[in-house]
Amino acid sequence: MYKLERTELLNDAVRISRLTGKLLKDHLLTDFSVEHKGEVDLVTEMDRSAQDLIQQEILLKYPDHGILAEEDLDIPGSEEFLWIVDPLDGTTNYAHRFPIFSVSIAVAYKKETLCGVVYNPVSEEMFTAIRGEGANLNTLPINVSETSRLDDSLLGTGFPYNIRESTQTNLDHFGKFALRTQGIRRCGSAALDLCFVACGRLDGFWELNLKPWDIAAGTLIVREAGGVITDFEGNELLLDGSRILASNGHIHSRMMEVLAEGG
Ligand code: IPD
Ligand code: CA
Ligand code: CA
Repeated sequence: MYKLERTELLNDAVRISRLTGKLLKDHLLTDFSVEHKGEVDLVTEMDRSAQDLIQQEILLKYPDHGILAEEDLDIPGSEEFLWIVDPLDGTTNYAHRFPIFSVSIAVAYKKETLCGVVYNPVSEEMFTAIRGEGANLNTLPINVSETSRLDDSLLGTGFPYNIRESTQTNLDHFGKFALRTQGIRRCGSAALDLCFVACGRLDGFWELNLKPWDIAAGTLIVREAGGVITDFEGNELLLDGSRILASNGHIHSRMMEVLAEGG
């Protein structure tokens, strides 16, 4: 995979996420329809319109590439390129007109993420990374924080959509971290949470039950910004986001200790 091709793929992902972000932002205050996938798991008309736009743009230029995206889209493709897409990360926020959401697009080649983009169209913040070349926010390089004590940290997390049915609610972990940090934020977009770790606004992030499209771009961005991504036990995460732990590296083992206390 040549540098030129990776840069071109990233530029396309940036262009497509900007186009999609504009669509989402322009419709935020309109009367779009909202359906329930589960009791508290929503999908809006705009999730689907955003995904349609992304699919159309990718296939126009790369008709042989595969696409895996949240709203029931799984095109295997005939090449080894796979676009992993969350057209709207932060649907609950969006449905409530709460202006924190993002478009997340990653491109993998032979199962390795080559580049990733997470775009927040409201703040116009474009987080990007190319494997081996660092991470950027609106073209300026970003790095994880230097915070070395959990006591001094600000963390992010989220709660699973099956919180009403499951015993794995994350509330125990939340309670434990709440007593040992400066605070916890629940932004409502896991892709943005990861980018906030990457640029040092958060020192760490953990969550249960995330999916490849939530984390594909964000995990590359964290790693390229010098951060660490594992599961709760410190093992390699791959693209399974069922127990993700992201941090600046310095507080990683302390976070693992707290997560090991159960929850
Ligand atoms: C959700 C968001 C949220 C996280 C959920 C995700 P969606 O994605 O990333 O922050 O807590 O687990 O499913 O449904 O808004 O694309
Ligand atoms: Ca998502
Ligand atoms: Ca989504």
